[in-house]
Amino acid sequence: MKKIALIGSTGSIGTQTLDVIRQLPDHFSLISLAAGRNVDLVVEQVLEFQPRIVAIERKEDAEKIKQQVGENVKVFYGKEGLIEAAVVQEADFLMNALVGSLGLEPTMQAIEAGLDIGIANKETLVTAGHLVTEKAKTYNVNLLPVDSEHSAIFQSLEGNRLEEVEKLIVTASGGSFRDRTREQLKGVSVEDALNHPNWDMGAKITIDSATMMNKGFELIEAHWLFNIPYDDIEVLLHKESIIHSLVEYRDKSVLAQLGTPDMRVPIQYAMSYPERLELRDTNRLNLWKIGKLHFDKPDFDRYRCLSYAYEAGRKGGTLPTVLNAANEEAVKHFLDGKITFLAIEKHIEEALERHQVINSPALDTILEVDKETRAYVSSRIG
Ligand SMILES: NC(=O)c1ccc[n+]([C@@H]2O[C@H](COP(=O)([O-])OP(=O)(O)OC[C@H]3O[C@@H](n4cnc5c(N)ncnc54)[C@H](OP(=O)(O)O)[C@@H]3O)[C@@H](O)[C@H]2O)c1
Repeated sequence: MKKIALIGSTGSIGTQTLDVIRQLPDHFSLISLAAGRNVDLVVEQVLEFQPRIVAIERKEDAEKIKQQVGENVKVFYGKEGLIEAAVVQEADFLMNALVGSLGLEPTMQAIEAGLDIGIANKETLVTAGHLVTEKAKTYNVNLLPVDSEHSAIFQSLEGNRLEEVEKLIVTASGGSFRDRTREQLKGVSVEDALNHPNWDMGAKITIDSATMMNKGFELIEAHWLFNIPYDDIEVLLHKESIIHSLVEYRDKSVLAQLGTPDMRVPIQYAMSYPERLELRDTNRLNLWKIGKLHFDKPDFDRYRCLSYAYEAGRKGGTLPTVLNAANEEAVKHFLDGKITFLAIEKHIEEALERHQVINSPALDTILEVDKETRAYVSSRIG
């Protein structure tokens, strides 16, 4: 029985993690959960899964939850509450399903407590990949990928030697606007951008998929998780999201992992690793029914965020922190209807250009640069 701590329980990854726990009660139990503002869903989750610890963003919501869940559940709030829910001594595994660099500090502390981490929250690796991977090594903790692409790479690397890898090929569906020209992106609405063709995900990652910043983040995530140089990580457009990513070896053999798009597959594998458990109500891959798979090269002018991510990753230091913070701030304003879709790129580019890179930044520096970048982008937007 693995004891799971879950932060971000009310989101897309969080609810699917709970679905895995629900289906495999002999394998997993929930020790703690944390969420932002969805109080009703938190109460429902607590009543169903009976965790011992709950954390919510705001104090007033913690009071509301306390009144509905009984005295056996400890309810915390704020940043400290999030840490309480992430770092539980009796837990074996933390699923980090938060969105944004908010996930960095709980991850660092959970590693120090010796918990294996299911890392859905890619922004944590983008903003401070060097610190997270170094700490995981020091504390002998596994960072298990949850992103379907990284899970595919992880699975394609199993039983092979990292030094025999020639390159990683990360597949990309192309997001909501994959069939539009740059010209056609000018007047797109928030609603259009939120309409992803293959995956039903949280709002921020759906916008990141449409700008391809999500794929850019995944390059950086892959670099840190698998210790592969950026020059050896490629992006391949593959609109069906059936091949979740590939690894090419030095003998030109290419290994891949395939499956119908269902995030519970990589979520469950991260939780059950190294075992594979049955996943009952997911669709079998039926290649003869699909018939054709399509592949294309990404156009770096059409998808500028991909170039920014390669540049930020290669230069390193605090530049990926700026990339992430500027993106989080710009996407928030796009979702609020304050800037256009193409302005997201513009604000990221401006933030990257003005930044003086600090090499090998410590956690305090990262947190400072993150804060300063958000304030800058926000002031530019007005
Ligand atoms: N969704 C996918 O299929 C998918 C696939 C691959 C990778 N990922 C990655 O997984 C992460 C989560 O994505 P998602 O799509 O699941 O996002 P999401 O649906 O927006 O969920 C985000 C979660 O974070 C919680 N949260 C936000 N602010 C918080 C705060 N201040 N304190 C505590 N909790 C807070 C939210 O709580 P409330 O809703 O209660 O406010 C929610 O539970 C992202 O890094 C994303 O890139 C997602």
